[in-house]
Amino acid sequence: MRENRWYREICRPMHVVHRALFFIKQGESMNDLTQLQERAIEEAKAAQSSRALYEIKMKYLGRTGEVTALLKRMKEIPAEERPAYGKQVNALRVALEELFASCEEAVKEKELAFRISQEKVDVTMPGKRVRKQKGTLHPVTRVKNQLIDIFAGMGFEIFEGPEIESEYYNFTALNTPADHPARDMQDTFYVTDEFLLRTQTSAGQIRLMEKKQPPIKMLSPGRVFRSDDDATHSPMFHQMEGLVVDKNITLCDLQGMLDEFARVMFSETSKTRLRPSYFPFTEPSVEVDVSCAACGGKGCSLCKGTGWIEVLGAGMVNRRVLENCGVDPDEYSGFAFGMGVERIAMLKYGMNNIKLLTENDTRFLEQFKD
Ligand code: DAH
Repeated sequence: MRENRWYREICRPMHVVHRALFFIKQGESMNDLTQLQERAIEEAKAAQSSRALYEIKMKYLGRTGEVTALLKRMKEIPAEERPAYGKQVNALRVALEELFASCEEAVKEKELAFRISQEKVDVTMPGKRVRKQKGTLHPVTRVKNQLIDIFAGMGFEIFEGPEIESEYYNFTALNTPADHPARDMQDTFYVTDEFLLRTQTSAGQIRLMEKKQPPIKMLSPGRVFRSDDDATHSPMFHQMEGLVVDKNITLCDLQGMLDEFARVMFSETSKTRLRPSYFPFTEPSVEVDVSCAACGGKGCSLCKGTGWIEVLGAGMVNRRVLENCGVDPDEYSGFAFGMGVERIAMLKYGMNNIKLLTENDTRFLEQFKD
């Protein structure tokens, strides 16, 4: 039995020696544990910064630390010794963890006290500049506010109507009966047979005149909706409707007011011109042009060489509209006008595509700062 002999004579004695050696070593380990603990306490207490303390902690408790190595050796320990060994090493680990936690607190306190003693605030130093651009008002809001300012300055009151409007207020009362071709001028989003998304803020004229007898000076800003979408049209855009009704109001009053508007909105030297046009709710109706601010009226690419730019529709309020609202057309007359806020913004800031106003590209929007 060669194996038996080999086992008896060589392997077994070797095993015995190994076991013996191991016990001696383990005995040393137990001593080592106390030494290791003392060493750790000494080093931790001497640490001058949380960084240094952290490194010491890692040296003992980190993934490759000394205590972790002791725990990893557990499987090498004979089964009967393992519980005692494990208990000791674990106790050491817990003790060291507590040690590092309390040292950490002490070091941090020391560091804070040091920082406070070093830091002095010079209240006379200029503050740090906020680098990030603060939000800016959207150009449409900007122009809308400016328009409101201009007309409020002339005594106009602001009146806002609903966005979902009945056919009556949006068309019928504005002298646009069901079969009137003018209804084809505006592609309408219908909500029901009777209700629609308003296509024009002109509906506000009717709502106000129903409530109030002249004198009236009203400005009605708001969103309007049309099934229309290209470089200069958007399915939703903003309008500003104006209405003045009183005794002896004439087209001259309209033009005088528009001149003032153009001067403030575009340039000191801006002028207006009226061209005959057609709207069912005004008679006579006009298109209003403003002299081109880019070339001063000489003719350029913006005004297509004409020196004039069309900015809004207007006219004398049709008698029928006044009658529809219970205002006597023999006693009162009035003018009305309606403009697209996006169009004014595009002219004022030289934009060629209305989409710039809805894409919300911050690089574009950031240009409109105070
Ligand atoms: N409502 C017209 C439109 O949306 C604009 C307009 C033209 C309004 C003439 C008026 C006006 O009050 O008199 O195209």
